[in-house]
Amino acid sequence: MDLSVKLLGLDFDNPLGPAAGPLVEGLENMQFFNKNSCGYNVAKTISVEGAIVPKPCIAGTSNTIYNCELWSELHSDVWINEILPTIHKEKKKPLVISAGYKEEDFRYLIPKLDPFADMFEISTHYVSEDLLPGIVKSIRENTNKPVFMKLSPHIDDFLGFVKTVIDAGATGIVAINSLGPSAAIDLKNRSVLLAEEVWISGPSIKPVALHRVYKIREAFPDIPIIGVGGIGKAEDILEFILAGADLVQMLSSALIRGRDLYDKIITKLPTALEEYGFSSIEEIRKIRKETIFKPKEKIENNPPSFNDNCTLCMICVKICPAGALEKIDDKIVVDKEKCIRCGLCQSRCPVDAIYGVLT
Ligand SMILES: Cc1cc2nc3c(=O)[nH]c(=O)nc-3n(C[C@H](O)[C@H](O)[C@H](O)COP(=O)(O)O)c2cc1C
Repeated sequence: MDLSVKLLGLDFDNPLGPAAGPLVEGLENMQFFNKNSCGYNVAKTISVEGAIVPKPCIAGTSNTIYNCELWSELHSDVWINEILPTIHKEKKKPLVISAGYKEEDFRYLIPKLDPFADMFEISTHYVSEDLLPGIVKSIRENTNKPVFMKLSPHIDDFLGFVKTVIDAGATGIVAINSLGPSAAIDLKNRSVLLAEEVWISGPSIKPVALHRVYKIREAFPDIPIIGVGGIGKAEDILEFILAGADLVQMLSSALIRGRDLYDKIITKLPTALEEYGFSSIEEIRKIRKETIFKPKEKIENNPPSFNDNCTLCMICVKICPAGALEKIDDKIVVDKEKCIRCGLCQSRCPVDAIYGVLT
């Protein structure tokens, strides 16, 4: 099964890379991703000075990471003189260098990072939107490499963000950064967990990330998009690519479950492709225009129908918000007067026994 992706003249063995964060901070971490099966490597966001991060700075639950990390804690000199030359020498795959934040930082950093980068990814997390054109210009004047601007989900007018940065000379978009600000409450200790400004990521933000990728792809059919936010399994990668991404990244699920998750997911990609009837990753990129972006056929206002898969597990009966489902003899029966045609039963059926409402 072909997992490869061709993008901007670069060859990627598969579409998954790490997302900027603690797993790509420093030499040993970068070497890990140079050697594992990820299709490309990414460096933690480098700014001129190392960040001073309030500690503790990361907490996790089974589907969410809370963090108040900033950019790399290492000074840019360490990246430029030690880490990046070593990675470049040992290089096995394309390298995306993440950088931030101000025009003057980029005028200093980009020429020094340029020899090591195949693409740049620019964090805009702490940047006011009116500064974006100047920032992109300061980067463009110092590199011919592809420049991806990273969208933070707290930006309301995200299509306006994309238009602004593309008009100013950016190549593509990374969507999305962590969501927030948010809060985690430590009930046992009756306190707020971590610092005041906390951002969330991991599977709980996947629907927001998919929304931004889908909407950006719909409005900008031809720009390269890297999708990130909540990926934790092979099927998630297929969803992001169908929604409009060309490449994808993952961080939080690996923080929650361990960094061997990258290899595990990539190993499972061929089976996932096969299960959903795709022959390659490139095929999904090609067919999305005629599938997910095709105007939707009008869904009729149908009540649910049941097929033979039904095991009478009763989940649909329990959850129907209208109380319209009932087990009579050995069948689930719909009260068509009561049924509000919402679709919840179909989406929650564990054995695909319900059809006709959503699809
Ligand atoms: C602990 C932590 C640190 C992060 N640091 C950065 C960073 O330095 N630069 C950046 O652009 N994004 C940073 N991010 C955001 C991630 O790169 C990513 O966009 C976000 O977490 C969503 O992906 P995920 O759900 O797979 O983690 C960080 C996220 C976390 C959880």
